[in-house]
Formats: sequence, structure tokens, C-alpha cells
Amino acid sequence: MASWRRSLPSLTLLGLLSSFIIFLQSSYHVAKATTLTGIVHRSLIRKPTSSQNVLVFREAPSFWNGQACGSPQTSPIHISMTLDANYLRGTVAAVLSILQHSMCPENFEFHFLCSGFDPEVFSNINATFPYLRYKAYRFDSSRVKGKISKSIRQALDQPLNYARIYLADMLPIHVNRVIYLDSDLVVVDDIAELWGVDLEGKVLAAPEYCHANFTKYFTDLFWSDLSLAKTFEGRNPCYFNTGVMVVDIDKWRKGGYTQKVEEWMTVQKLKRIYHLGSLPPFLLVLAGNIKAVDHRWNQHGLGGDNLEGKCRRLHPGPISLLHWSGKGKPWLRLDSRKPCTVDHLWAPYDLYLPSTHSVEE
Ligand SMILES: *[C@@H]1O[C@H](CO)[C@@H](O)[C@H](O)[C@H]1NC(C)=O
Ligand SMILES: *[C@@H]1O[C@H](CO)[C@@H](O)[C@H](O)[C@H]1NC(C)=O
Repeated sequence: MASWRRSLPSLTLLGLLSSFIIFLQSSYHVAKATTLTGIVHRSLIRKPTSSQNVLVFREAPSFWNGQACGSPQTSPIHISMTLDANYLRGTVAAVLSILQHSMCPENFEFHFLCSGFDPEVFSNINATFPYLRYKAYRFDSSRVKGKISKSIRQALDQPLNYARIYLADMLPIHVNRVIYLDSDLVVVDDIAELWGVDLEGKVLAAPEYCHANFTKYFTDLFWSDLSLAKTFEGRNPCYFNTGVMVVDIDKWRKGGYTQKVEEWMTVQKLKRIYHLGSLPPFLLVLAGNIKAVDHRWNQHGLGGDNLEGKCRRLHPGPISLLHWSGKGKPWLRLDSRKPCTVDHLWAPYDLYLPSTHSVEE
């Protein structure tokens, strides 16, 4: 009897427990449904469904001129970059890094080269940098499509990669100097210093790498064809990276450099004279004839090897600009939780809001 008596309340308790569990489950369902609705709601508002590629970013802080900056009218700094949905995260980080390290951030005028006018890209830029002064230019990819020959890396064959050749045609006439920058870099110093470089009559300034083996940028066919190989006669050609360039736009226009670069692309179409994309025709026209600037303005190659995708270390010495040229991109490696050590130097400039953040908030 005693055991029966004892088991009776325990049965009741069991009943109570099970109804409590049912209650828990139902409230859990409610909670889960609310959360799900919340996520759907957010993503509907913040991530329009028409384009899956477009990301969502935090708003950057506003940056104002220090004293003795002059005005954007009297002391403009013109920066040109490409802008498209694929590299948007890189471009946003690069712009933030430039503004953040500048004494006179209001003096920048950004010139974005775009293959199309994707409204979501611009609403993103507007929302992320409400105070940014920028203009966008449509790059007609049909200008290069027939001229691009397949390189060793598909990413290099994107028409927008070639837009830098046409800067002088696209930018307004009042822009007579521009800094062209790739989208896979961050600036960690005041870029006004690079802007102020004395070009000493040259059309282009960039860091020069005279110890790099210049031969390997061109094929055996190029070097064995004497009429081609003599291109570099009378020059001491050195490698330079086209991801960071100060360009005298007036000189570029007057010298017809766009046509000169295009001519080499036509040669490449007929005979394979190099392996990479937009870089070698620049070298053919300008190597050995540029104004060399300090190496700290382009610590390149941080993306890793073309073929192996290995991590790279920083070269010793001061650094003003970090450039993830090469196969790997820091945002991809960070997202896949396999970052290289150098990628942690890019992360502080990343304004991207992963969708999981909105769940945690
Ligand atoms: C972005 O801002 C510019 C300048 O205020 C404006 O002209 C443009 O329409 C905006 N674009 C979008 C897509 O919001
Ligand atoms: C430079 O590269 C070429 C082609 O790959 C090679 O034949 C040559 O030996 C290299 N020169 C030096 C100094 O390493």
C-alpha cells in the first residue's frame, strides 16, 4: 500500500511534468517561430532578394578634416577603384582604411569604375559612407572583351580588371592626377604622402622591384623574337605592380598610352607573349620608365601564390599599404576560418555584417 500511495503522487507529478514539457515545447515553438520571423523580416529589409551577391555593411564612422587641410576644391585627392558586387567587401574595407588614416579625409574624391550600375551596390556605398564624395563611371566591357586573352588565372580575365587602362578616357578633364588602387588592399598610412609624389616628368609612379626576375613575366616566344625583345632596349625594365599607381592623367592622354597598352594586347592575342592579365602590357609600355616610390606603398602578394595558394609573410621594413594580390583573398580565408596570419591585418577594416550577427543581436 505504502508503495502504491507513494507512486500515486509520483504519477501526478509525472503528469504535471509532461504537461510542463508540452508547455515548454509549445513556448519553444513560439519562440523559434518568432526568431525565424525576425530573421526573415530582417533579411527582407536589409538584404533584398533580387541579388544574392550584394552584402550588408555597418555604417562607417564619419571622418572630418583636421586643421590646415584646405578644402576639397583647392586640395582634392582623386582616388580611383573598381566597384562591383564581387569585390564590394574589399572596396569598402579599402575606402575605410584610406579615410581612417587621412589627416584630410574630406578632400578625397573617389572615382569608381563599374561594369554596370547595380543600384544595390550604390545604396550600400551610400549607407556605409554617407559623407563620401564619389562619382561612378560605367566601363564598357566591350572595349576590351575582344582583346582579353586567357591568362593563367580566371579572376584576372574579368573585363573590369582592364578598366585601369581607360582611366584617362573615363575621368573628367579637371582630374589631372589620380591614384589607382586595387580592391584587395588596405592603406595604413596617410595616402596624401603618395599623392604628393614628384613624378619628375614621368607618366606613372609606383614601387619598382628591380631584383624580381623580369624575364619570367614574358614567354620564351617573346624573348626569342628579336623584334619583340628589343622593346626593352635602352631601358632598365623592372617589375611594378599595377594595383597601386599614381598616374599623371594629362600626360597619359597626351602620350596616347591607352592605345600603346591596347596594341600590346592585340599582339598577345596573335602570339602568346605573356601569361598574366592586365599587368604585362603595362610593363611592356612603361617598365624602366616610371618614377619609383618607396616599397612601403605596396606590400603586395599577401594573397599567396598563383598556383599553390600558400600564406605569405610580411617583408621587413615600414608598411603604408597592404595588398592581397595573388590567389587568396583575406575575406574568403577569414570566412572559411582558415586565415593566414596577415589576414588579421585586414579584418579591422571589414565592415561586412554577416547575417549571423543579426541573429545574435
Ligand atoms: C547614392 O547617393 C547619391 C548621392 O547622394 C545619389 O545620387 C544616388 O541616387 C544614391 N544611390 C542609391 C542607389 O541610393
Ligand atoms: C629568370 O627566369 C628565367 C625564366 O624563368 C630563367 O631562365 C632565368 O634563369 C632566371 N634568372 C635568374 C637570374 O634567376
